[in-house]
Amino acid sequence: MLADGRVAASCKLYERDLRWDGTTLRATGVGGVFTSPPYRGRGYASALLALVLDGERAAGRDLAYLYSDIHPAFYQRLGFIGLPSRRLTLRVASLDGSRPSAVALAERDWPGVRRTYARLESARPWTFTRNARVWRWLRKHWSAQPARGEQRVNLVVRRKRGVATYVIALRVPRKDTLWVEEFGFAGDDGRARLPALLRAAAGDLARVRMWMPPPGAREALPRGSPSVRKNAIFMVAPLSPAARAWWRAKGSDILAAPSDPFWVADHV
Ligand SMILES: CC(C)(COP(=O)(O)OP(=O)(O)OC[C@H]1O[C@@H](n2cnc3c(N)ncnc32)[C@H](O)[C@@H]1OP(=O)(O)O)[C@@H](O)C(=O)NCCC(=O)NCCS
Repeated sequence: MLADGRVAASCKLYERDLRWDGTTLRATGVGGVFTSPPYRGRGYASALLALVLDGERAAGRDLAYLYSDIHPAFYQRLGFIGLPSRRLTLRVASLDGSRPSAVALAERDWPGVRRTYARLESARPWTFTRNARVWRWLRKHWSAQPARGEQRVNLVVRRKRGVATYVIALRVPRKDTLWVEEFGFAGDDGRARLPALLRAAAGDLARVRMWMPPPGAREALPRGSPSVRKNAIFMVAPLSPAARAWWRAKGSDILAAPSDPFWVADHV
């Protein structure tokens, strides 16, 4: 949005599909909402977002979503609804200490990782779908050089055909924490090995921390300590009749669920 011929406020838009049972909702992710300091407090960001929502609605998009790093009341005024956004912390000492026969995730493991993910996700009533482009982006992100003092640990336990369990994580020694971005498992055998795999990835670190995993994955972990996130609060604004029907049908279950709806990897 321009003022005096300059960019006063801006944001980025991302297109993702959200599968809800057999229906696909077309979702627009809104990221990087920013108003240049001299223009703040004059309604630019509110006007920009209202324009975006009108434009997306007119273009036939079903819903908009974002991750709020500020007080969510700002986005609530524009019609966004806050969804559970938690972290989960596990003590490494509470995890299975047996050796999981893990190896570093190699190029050849990716098809198995994708199959494992797809199996777990197909059991969920609703999820962001990941097409080839999303997977390419994730692989790049998960293979990138970590920040100074952090180490990437992507591990798999292989089975004859494919992957029994995998974890994508960062070791953050200055916080004594293994930061888990995603994990997956196939079948009872994969699920049973997950805690030992997390422990192997953590090594000598004291705790494992992650965003609260979605249903189907969360149950494979010990109870741990959930806490409410102060930033990256997930919010949705249903735009179409289909999305409003989805929210009427699922909203109260989503708000009351012990697991959060999405993986951190789907953050925009
Ligand atoms: C947040 C931001 C985009 C608001 O832009 P803006 O053009 O000033 O917004 P508007 O003028 O439309 O609305 C102003 C209202 O935003 C709200 N707001 C601004 N910063 C806020 C914050 N950190 N927490 C909660 N609400 C905030 C306030 O209600 C404010 O109203 P007030 O000025 O009467 O107190 C801007 O402050 C910014 O660029 N901040 C840095 C980047 C950022 O945090 N982006 C949001 C990421 S989710």
